[in-house]
Amino acid sequence: MNSLTPGGSEAARRFPDGFLWGVGTSSYQIEGAVDADGRGPSIWDTFVRTPGKVNRGDTGDIACDSYNRLADDVALLDALGVGAYRFSVSWPRVLPSGSGEVNQAGLDYYRRLVDALVEHGIRPVATVYHWDLPQALEDRGGWANRDTALAMGELAAVLADALGDRVSMWITINEPLQTVQQGYLNGSHAPGRRDPALAAAAIHHILLAHGFATQALRAGIAGAIVGPTMDTQPFNALDEDAAPAAVALDAEYNRVYLDPVLRGSYPADLRADLMPPDELVRGGDMALISAPIDFLGLNYYRPHYVRSGDWADLRLGERPVAGWPGTVHYMPPDLPRTVMGWAVVPEGLRDLLIRLHGETGGLPIYITENGCAADDYITPEGTVEDHERIAYIHGHLEAILEALTAGVDVAGYFHWSLMDNFEWAEGYRRRFGLHYVEFGSGRRLQKRSASYYREVVRTNSLPPEPRAPTPARAAGEPTPRVGEAELPEAPAAV
Ligand code: FCB
Repeated sequence: MNSLTPGGSEAARRFPDGFLWGVGTSSYQIEGAVDADGRGPSIWDTFVRTPGKVNRGDTGDIACDSYNRLADDVALLDALGVGAYRFSVSWPRVLPSGSGEVNQAGLDYYRRLVDALVEHGIRPVATVYHWDLPQALEDRGGWANRDTALAMGELAAVLADALGDRVSMWITINEPLQTVQQGYLNGSHAPGRRDPALAAAAIHHILLAHGFATQALRAGIAGAIVGPTMDTQPFNALDEDAAPAAVALDAEYNRVYLDPVLRGSYPADLRADLMPPDELVRGGDMALISAPIDFLGLNYYRPHYVRSGDWADLRLGERPVAGWPGTVHYMPPDLPRTVMGWAVVPEGLRDLLIRLHGETGGLPIYITENGCAADDYITPEGTVEDHERIAYIHGHLEAILEALTAGVDVAGYFHWSLMDNFEWAEGYRRRFGLHYVEFGSGRRLQKRSASYYREVVRTNSLPPEPRAPTPARAAGEPTPRVGEAELPEAPAAV
């Protein structure tokens, strides 16, 4: 994919007029203030207190303290010049018991946020559910209980009523795949279950929640723009013998969520133990789940690879593909990886966009997340030179331009994330932000990638090439203390 490398024509590097540039965050990852103003507990408050579940026992109790630093965050967004901000609503802040009584103080926080965004000309894009389920609902069975889907419809109606005059664009659910895989199959995320029967029920109910939320948002907001966010994960087979396993994994990870929404049915080749049982799928459910959507949200970080190989002879980093003897998950050794261990393959995004363009019948697709963790640090000059992240963004934007050229309606890009935050089971050790957060003081500091991204947004085009490092300190100049200095052209660190 080199058609757009430096030297490619300027027109070829431009994004379409009206392309929506944004950044994203989610409530539990940034807000902190878990006991403030009547918020109820979420499954993540419980999970982080379960020994051994989160790196170093980190919690979201304080996180980026965004609940109390709303104005600071909006100032960062303003300085980036983005047209949109994707945030999520903390369900237990708004409905502390999951359903029923509304906590007005919680709603008021989101009201203040969207008012401030609109005042700065930044379009609010709200995610109804980004993983912080009220513990009260978990106590009644969580996503394995159909009532949770109904409760999410109730939440969406409350949000439509409170914020619908200011928020027109809504994402119903974020990555149902991760709720099911990590929450119900491998137990690495809240609520930490490992039970395929519960997972099968969760699949159906989280999709149903998307359906109820879509219905409520459309009923409550004239002209609402509504869609789900999926993290469709490409599986590539490296040889013919591994191809059937790749198809099966595509059903288990991707088509099980895409097909119901886009076609109204579960894929026939889905792993039998994950197929939602008939008694859970009531008349009308599939029609509700497949009601028209306005866009597809796509989170893309990396693809996967499988190859045929003897299970007795695994190489380092490989593991068997469950249910497919003689097939292994594999990482081609020549691929660059981020500190998460995730392969960096921008052309995987291009190919996925082309696939989804076909599957959605040409719906607009927003990249609702894309980004990378890196071992960022503050230099003695007081800057954060995250060139790895700049290269990551650059490559993926190039891939989006190629998809656009191929005719895909990519309508926007939201970088993950506005700032370093609580990265779920990884805690604070994985930094995904365009801004460095000094956890403890809560100070935010612009990274080099923020300047790069600001330039992309300002020009609505891909810069000729990522900027090279610019070591700046003159001889004899004193070294600023960590966190003291500011980047050139940066908004004041707040
Ligand atoms: C996605 C999540 C998001 C963030 C990124 C790195 O799966 O939606 O909250 O953690 O990964």
